[in-house]
Formats: sequence, structure tokens, C-alpha cells
Amino acid sequence: MITDILGTIGNTPLIEIKNCTTKDEGQVLFKYERSNPGGSIKDRPAIYIINEAERRKWLKPGGTIIESSSGNFGISLAMIGAAKGYRVIILVDPKTTNANLSLLKAFGAEVIVVTEQDDSGSYHKTRIALANKLAREIENSFRPDQCFNLLNSDAHYNGTACEIINNCQQGLTAIIAAVSTGGQLGGISKSLNTYMPEVQVIGVDAVGSSIFGGDSHAYRIPGIGLAWTPNNLTMNNIDCVYKITDEQAFVTARSFAKLEGILMGPSSGACALVALHLAQRLPRDKRIVCMVSDGGERYIQTLFSDEWMIEQGFSTDAGVDSLRATAAQLQPWSTDPMSISNYKPELNQNLDVPASTLCLNTEMLSDKYWNNGKHMRFLD
Ligand SMILES: Cc1ncc(COP(=O)(O)O)c(C=O)c1O
Repeated sequence: MITDILGTIGNTPLIEIKNCTTKDEGQVLFKYERSNPGGSIKDRPAIYIINEAERRKWLKPGGTIIESSSGNFGISLAMIGAAKGYRVIILVDPKTTNANLSLLKAFGAEVIVVTEQDDSGSYHKTRIALANKLAREIENSFRPDQCFNLLNSDAHYNGTACEIINNCQQGLTAIIAAVSTGGQLGGISKSLNTYMPEVQVIGVDAVGSSIFGGDSHAYRIPGIGLAWTPNNLTMNNIDCVYKITDEQAFVTARSFAKLEGILMGPSSGACALVALHLAQRLPRDKRIVCMVSDGGERYIQTLFSDEWMIEQGFSTDAGVDSLRATAAQLQPWSTDPMSISNYKPELNQNLDVPASTLCLNTEMLSDKYWNNGKHMRFLD
């Protein structure tokens, strides 16, 4: 098949775990998003939002894409901007790794480092507010707005969730995904609740994030967490939530490289640990799909550096027995996520979310949008 680079987004493989579960435990399948051309799951919402913006003439030839992202979403937009000929400006923060900065620049994106922290000690709000300001100032610019734009979860409802349901309905018992903007878990959970409501939907967050309540404090897992519940996530659709520590996430990701030959980043390490925990409680004919949002190369200087791990005070390795024992001891943070939701609707105004995003969201919450047939595609 001959295609352009953007035509290779999606249709990612499901990879079975062989060595970290026993033959009589539930089957764990990794939905391996590293095989997207930009190297992560974020290619999916990025291309979906850009295509929709072009269709609505919000993004025109010669236009500029402006986004707040310290990692994968920015890299996906930079790749798409290069392929389609748009200027791309990405607002990052001091936590952004050199590897990500290099990738953004490799695709020709302009990078602005935001150094002012917000009231939760992170940079999310200050980055978003500055991105919105720039979008007002730069003519012919477009803000994909992954945090507030409901097209983010729609991309997963129409893409990722369809692939999962089409490819492994048989025995599907649970699905696990990490959360930050809520795009992947929001879209997948909405689809499963509609079409396979018996499947358990499990969210994974970082200890230190308050998407599902609890104290906000600094943590090291990249790509995961937020100081509020994102509007892309409908808590009613989530059955259970786990919070994973930095050390658990990093050590698990390292272990899967050595024990299974599978490279993944720390957010996927967090999900993989929960997957092992569930597998230990299920028989072999039950399947668990675990989202693996990106690969390991992006984290060579952190996750895969022994020196860096030691500097953080983390152990460097876990053998299969110790990994399985850690998984066995996990406890859910909540089995009633709705009761611990932390929505902050006032942020729409406080962060000056663009009018185009707010109008689109109102449209997407209407029955007309949901009844147009587009959302039934995988049933064909
Ligand atoms: C590696 C990684 N894992 C998980 C997530 C969380 O995905 P979402 O923003 O769709 O909630 C992200 C988001 O940036 C990510 O980059």
C-alpha cells in the first residue's frame, strides 16, 4: 500500500503479553500506539482536529497552529504542520525533555518555553492562557486546544474505540487508559458504555494529580495528570481509578523492555502495572486491553538512564516476581469516580478559551451532532 505519512495514523496493533502473566490468568493485550508515525497516540486527536478545522475553514492555507503541549500532542501537530505546510508554535515548559524539544524542532516547529507556574505548581494553566493570547494576536491562527476541545475525545470515540471493538470483542472484560486531557479515556469510555457496557473502564492517574480528587503535588510521570477533571472525560462512564507512584510507573516500563521486549513510556508503565493486577484476578478467557500511549525512545535520558533513576531515588530494576508482587498489592483509588470529580467550569472563562472551541463544544453536546450517523461507523 502506498500512502502519505498522515495516512499511516491509526490501526495500531494489539500485542499480547507472554512473560509477565501466567497461562491461567487473564490475557493482556497492549494497544501499541508507538506505531503511529509521530510515535504516540496523540497523532489521532491531532489529525482529527486539524482535518475538522480545515473543513470548517478555521485553518486556511498559510495558517498557524498554536498549542500548549510539553510532549506528544505538540510533536504530532509539528509533524502534521510539516506535512501540510502550516507554521506551528508549541508552548512548552521547563519540564519538557531535550528529546521532545529536539523532535519539535526536527519537524520545524517554533518552541516557546513558559516559565511561570500556575496556582497548582504546574505550568498547564499558564501555558494555556498564553497560547490563547497568542491565538488572538496572530492572524489566521488556530488553537486545537486539546484540553478543552471535545473533538479530542471524539477522535478516540470514532477511531481508537472502533478499532478495539472491531478487533477484540471476544472476551473483552476491561480496558485501561492513562488520563491527562481525558481524550483517550473519555472517547473510549463513551463508546464502550454505549456498545459494550459490560466492559470495565479503568482510568490511571499519577499520585500528585487531582483529576480524580486528592492532593495536587509535583510528580515525575510525563503525559499524565492535571489539576482538574477535564471536560473530555465523563466520570459516569468510568468504573474504577488507580493512582500510580512515579517509581512504580518508571520501574514497570523498564521491566517490560527487559521482560517482554516491549518499549513504552512511564504513563504506559503505570497502565501496564494495573493490567497485571487485573490479569491476576481473571481467568484466561477474559481479555484486558491496556493502552500503551507511546514508546520508550523519547525517555532514553530519563526512564532508561540508570544514573537518572538513581538520582530520583528509584530502584533501577524489578524482576518478574517483584513486578507481579507490586501489581498484586495495588488498591483502587476509587470505584465511584463520579463522587470524586473535580470539574472546574470557571476555567473556560479564566483561561480565555477561544469562542470557536466553546461554540463547537455546545454543538457537540447537542443531539443533532450525535444523531448524524457518523458515530455509528464501526457497526457497518
Ligand atoms: C504518553 C502519554 N500517555 C497518556 C496521555 C494521556 O492521554 P489523554 O491526554 O488523552 O488523557 C498522554 C497525553 O499527553 C501522553 O502523552
